[in-house]
Amino acid sequence: MFQPVKIAPSILSADFMNLQSDIELIERAGAGYVHVDVMDGHFVPNLTIGVPHVKQLKGITKLPLDVHLMISNPLVQLPWFIEAGADILTVHAEALEGQWLDRAVEMIHEGGAKACVALKPNTAVEALASVIDRLDMVLVMSVEPGFSGQGYIEGSEEKVASVAQMARDAGNYGMLIEVDGGIGVKTVERVCSAGADVIVCGNAVYAADDPAAALAEIEALGNAARLAAMS
Ligand code: DX5
Ligand code: ZN
Repeated sequence: MFQPVKIAPSILSADFMNLQSDIELIERAGAGYVHVDVMDGHFVPNLTIGVPHVKQLKGITKLPLDVHLMISNPLVQLPWFIEAGADILTVHAEALEGQWLDRAVEMIHEGGAKACVALKPNTAVEALASVIDRLDMVLVMSVEPGFSGQGYIEGSEEKVASVAQMARDAGNYGMLIEVDGGIGVKTVERVCSAGADVIVCGNAVYAADDPAAALAEIEALGNAARLAAMS
């Protein structure tokens, strides 16, 4: 059955002084999630927002909060983000060696949220091996994490296809694949053809003259590419 692509606008590119209206805008435009980029100035050079902001965001939107943790010690903060209302929690494989990645996935599920693991562009898909059978989502980074507005790293769609194959091999047919970084009208089709289900868009939506129209166009292109790949 055809499952439409979902767009997850990243509020990193929104106007933080008018965040509520910027979130209402993407709700009206049909976004599937609110993508929240949490950066600690250590795992990545940049520093953004954290637990108190997620708690307040939860109070102003009915869209699921897709919280992307770019932090060095996610095990410490995971319970706090769950308590704050994160619906999907993404941890980076590079931040959690060996058994700790399994533990993070377990903690997220115990807290009642959906578990996602992110891979930086140079991290091999094998990093997912111990958890792929029970993940709700994998996030394939198509830029180096840290900043919005970067260019898509060519060939990232090949990693999307590898992750899709790996999930099928593990019998995890319901797992979603999210792609994050440099996605817009020029790049959405190739990642959706390769199997992407959730598309993060920062600048392509919020820096557009008409963000709602940009979101709709990216969504339509993504859906057309998914349909074509099915036939
Ligand atoms: C980068 C973040 C992204 C970023 C996407 O580290 O994870 O979510 O905000 O922004 P664009 O779509 O502009 O690349
Ligand atoms: Zn992100």
